[in-house]
Amino acid sequence: MGTLTLPRVQSIATEFRNRFGRAPLVVRSPGRVNLIGEHTDYNEGFVLPGAIDKEIILAVGSRDDRTCRMVAADLGQTFETSLDALARSHLGWPNYLLGVVDQLQKGGIQMRGFECVFGGDIPIGSGMSSSAALEAGFLYGLNELHGLSLDRLRMARLAQRSENEFVGLRCGIMDQFTNLFGHEGSVILLDCRSLQYEYVPFTRNDIRIVLCDTQVKHELASSEYNVRRAQCEAGVDLIRKHEPSVHSLRDIPRGLLDEHRREMEPIVYTRCAYVISENERVLSGCDDLRRDDLEAFGGKMIQSHEGLRDEYQVSCAELDVLVEAALGVDGVYGARMMGGGFGGCTINLVREDHIQEFSGTVADSFKNMFGKAPKIYLSRISGGTGIVNLDARG
Ligand code: GLA
Repeated sequence: MGTLTLPRVQSIATEFRNRFGRAPLVVRSPGRVNLIGEHTDYNEGFVLPGAIDKEIILAVGSRDDRTCRMVAADLGQTFETSLDALARSHLGWPNYLLGVVDQLQKGGIQMRGFECVFGGDIPIGSGMSSSAALEAGFLYGLNELHGLSLDRLRMARLAQRSENEFVGLRCGIMDQFTNLFGHEGSVILLDCRSLQYEYVPFTRNDIRIVLCDTQVKHELASSEYNVRRAQCEAGVDLIRKHEPSVHSLRDIPRGLLDEHRREMEPIVYTRCAYVISENERVLSGCDDLRRDDLEAFGGKMIQSHEGLRDEYQVSCAELDVLVEAALGVDGVYGARMMGGGFGGCTINLVREDHIQEFSGTVADSFKNMFGKAPKIYLSRISGGTGIVNLDARG
């Protein structure tokens, strides 16, 4: 963990102590990037994400009664409820914590009340998975506090389900899995069907992962996300009528999709075709990384963006301007929108010695079009969620 984290750990732990009069258990929970493989996770496909050095710090403690007290330190907001009256809150953020408790209770785990103070620097709504960081980090803390003995995979599934059922986004498992399985210096090739994974080293010191944040999140983001998922399912349902063994788009080779193209609504075909191509790009992109061929890898990132923009249609003007501007700069290997889409960030692989030129050019183009500067973050691949030892850190 970087030294910059220390003041945050201390201030969150201190806020907990001041409010609740005892020492908390402290958890660090990271955001994530995804190099390639977008909208493939819920289609049982492949993704290539990594945890990053943006994080949420959570201080948690358990209570003997059934009261749940939550504090979003950065927002200056508090929320209190009882384990017997879990209901969605209009504040938004409590739902990520309550959803986890709800899942544990549904799983037959006898819960006790808790207190939780959290804060961090993962920009909200940026596509860096602040929500998964909150869900998985909180679950990790409860697992430790209450000795639940859940392993990381179980926690990832449970955190995903809490978002599906309590928050209402039918997300795949990529974000929660990455949060819990992140590994310093490596991205994760995850097979979202078998949940087998492999760490792929990403350690080139001369290349930086640069995130450009549009700072917009269009209203349609979550409803359109669920619509995309339903369109993919419609394609699978249709093919399954001919091939009963087919379970997801993962089982459908391009040829089979094409064979039944005429039976599908054109939009369903286009969405499915994107997912099938994107899965191929993840696998061949991993080979590029293993050969250290960043030119080839970057080319696949660009194709991924084009597919997301034209076929899957989850990009937006702000993202497209950022990608186009990035591709005009020397030393940029690849650029594409990242995450669910309709706002959030682009991810760019940029040579270290071109970062300044990159930032200037991209910011200017964005400002010319939209009248304000994008936020630009340099990120490093970091480790996954874990306990912060307060004593060792003073
Ligand atoms: C969001 C979801 C993920 C994944 C991405 C798109 O981040 O939470 O599960 O589907 O969008 O790749």
